[in-house]
Formats: sequence, C-alpha cells, structure tokens
Amino acid sequence: MKSDIKDKNLAPKGKLRIEWAGAQMKVLNLIKERFEKEKPLKGIILGACLHVTSETANLAITLKAGGAELALCASNPLSTQDDVAASLVEDFGIPVFAIKGEDKDTYYNHLNTVLDFKPQITMDDGADLVTLLHTERKNQLKDVIGSSEETTTGVIRLKAMLKDGTLKIPVIAVNDSSTKHMFDNRYGTGQSTIDGIIRATNVLLAGKKFAVCGYGWCGRGLASRARGMGSQVIICEVDPLKALEAVMDGFEVMAKKDALKIADIICTATGNKGVLSVSDLKNAKEGIIVANTGHFNVEFDYEGLVKEARQRRHLRENLEEITLPNNKKVFVLAEGRLINLSSAEGHPPDVMDMSFANQALAAEFIVKNRGKLKPDVYNLPKELDDLIAKLKLESLGIKIDSLTEEQKKYLSSWNEGT
Ligand code: ADE
Repeated sequence: MKSDIKDKNLAPKGKLRIEWAGAQMKVLNLIKERFEKEKPLKGIILGACLHVTSETANLAITLKAGGAELALCASNPLSTQDDVAASLVEDFGIPVFAIKGEDKDTYYNHLNTVLDFKPQITMDDGADLVTLLHTERKNQLKDVIGSSEETTTGVIRLKAMLKDGTLKIPVIAVNDSSTKHMFDNRYGTGQSTIDGIIRATNVLLAGKKFAVCGYGWCGRGLASRARGMGSQVIICEVDPLKALEAVMDGFEVMAKKDALKIADIICTATGNKGVLSVSDLKNAKEGIIVANTGHFNVEFDYEGLVKEARQRRHLRENLEEITLPNNKKVFVLAEGRLINLSSAEGHPPDVMDMSFANQALAAEFIVKNRGKLKPDVYNLPKELDDLIAKLKLESLGIKIDSLTEEQKKYLSSWNEGT
C-alpha cells in the first residue's frame, strides 16, 4: 500500500493513542457500529485533507467501516501526529500522506497524491482539496459527487467561490452545524489554545494581560478559558455587535494598538489575514508573546518579522525570540501556525466526537443525495444536528424533559395571549 509517513515503527504508540481518543468519542462510535452493519459508503472513494490526529484517525476508521476506500493527507504541515499516521497505515490499512514539519512542496505533493486516488467525495479542513480541484485538477471535478468542509475559514473560501460562480460541486459546511461550531470552535479552541501556549512557553497565565483578536466562536472560547486561568482578558474586534457582546461578557475591549501596548500575550483568532503587522508589533509591549489560533498562518505577519529581524533564536520547541530593528523583542509561537495543533494536540476527543459525527453523517448524506444536489454550500439538515446533540447528551448520561402536546400546540399557535 502506498503511503508517505515519518516512521512506521511509531505505529504501536499511535495505536494506543487512537484507542484512548476513540474511547471518548461515543457518538462517533455509535455511527461506526451502524456503518459497519449498513455500509452506506460502500464503493465510495473518499479523499480527506484533515489534521492527522488521533481524533481524525477515529473518523477515518469510521468511514472505512462504512465501506469507503479512503486516502488521507494533512491540512496543515505542523499538525500531523506521526505515530497516529503510522498506525493508520500499519494497523488499519489506510493510506496516509503526512509528515509533521513537511515543507510546502511536500504538503502540496501529498494533497495531489490523495487526488490521484480519484475521490468521489472530498473532505477538507480549510478547503485546500476543493481549491486544487477547481484550479490544477479541474478534469476531476466531474467525478466528485460532493465534499464537506470542517472549518470557518474553509466555509468562507467556499462561499467566495460560490459567489463568483467558481464552485462546481455541492459542499456540506460541517462547520455551520450547531453541534460543530458552538462546541468545537468554542470549547475545543478555548482549551487547546491555552494548552498550546503553555506547552510552548510554560508561562503563568494568572495575572497576565491576555489579548484576543476576534470574538467569534473561537475567540469567545479562548477568552473565557484565559479568564478562567486568571488572566486579565482584552478583546480586539472589528464587528460592533461582537465587540459589544464582549463588553457585556465582562471583557475589556479596545483597539489593537492600545491592547498591544499593554498585553503580555496576544493571540489572533479571526480567520482573516494581516491582523498584526510588523509595525504593529514594533510598537508592542517589550517581550510580548504572539500566537495565532486561526486556521492559516497569515493572521500576523511572521514572514515580515523574520525579514526584519536583527536576531532570531529558537529558545524552546515552538518558541522563537525575534529581535526587531528597534531592539524590541517579540516571542513568536509556532511560526504563526495554529498554536493548538502545532504545539498541543488540537481539540480534545470528547468535542471532536461531535465534529466528526457531523463529518461521517455528511459523507452519508452526500451519497444518499447523489445527483440531487446542485453546486452550492449546504448545511447538514437540522434533524441530523439535533440527533448528534441528543446522542451526545445520552452518552453523557444526561436526561432532559420534552414538551407536552399542549405546549407544542401553544408554541405553534398565535391566538392565546394575555
Ligand atoms: N481540529 C482541531 N482539533 C483537531 C483535532 N484534535 N483533530 C482533528 N482536527 C482538529
């Protein structure tokens, strides 16, 4: 079997980690058991470009259990867990093309290799496979019955493709399911970003001024967890509604140039580019720690910092000291790549459980609706979103009440008032 991984001898360690993550992914396991019986993906070739983690491994195993023939590559050059990649190849017979730290050329070679499998369904985290299909590999578009997208940034790209008429396939925006973005983006990013910053620096968060750029679901999660660690949290936001929400949530809100003057740590979580420029950082507090937890490494200008650096020193894994021409030192984490997956292990399995339940059901939905979906960006049907929430609650042993018939009638009528 073809594959490109770091070292197949890492497989035993990866297998144990996959097992541990899988034990926390109860909803995905239920789907896997059903997929094993029903084989809804039988005969489907599926190309996935996702962070190669122990959680993703459990999704891959589920898709294979459903009958799919699968090939996997990384959606980020730094996020691959090499032991997990090895185990997927050696123990589960899934071709993987991903090596932690791969350069840009290797990253794109791996994406192209996955597309060489001629997938009928693609699964993206950041829309890189879909972009390749619509640029260099247009001749394969006719074979693709649909795709699914994991993350906010990817959905933004896809909607831009739809708007200018480029998008030629139906795509399920898994990110837009409530059981995805309200949980993974918020609680997953919140916890794992803190984890990544601590692993890279080992600094105390209590008492630090911690600025978060962006108050979307990821920013909200990060702000709440940084506050939980005892930091004084500052929010920088361009959207007045979100900024106001941050104020009402009890955070200090200010323009980034003011935040930069006082922040000990600043982390971008915007999904946009150019949030922090070199000149912004030249005016920052001496010794500021700069991280990014948005999808792409363009949220702050790492390349610009490198170009202008008087001196660069790698102090620890994922921690670089950069001295700027004005002698100011900034400490950059993970070269501006998303910190939670570069320096920690990404979102915990309990929350990826819901995200990947959405991915597995999206693949099944695409197959069931083969030929019926025109090129567009779709949400997964609300019934499936609700089903995932219900199963997650059940897996947590939590029972909730339901509406009485009288209450249902009341809610669907208008004539009962004061
Ligand atoms: N995205 C964020 N965290 C992740 C994880 N643990 N596995 C796969 N994709 C992720």
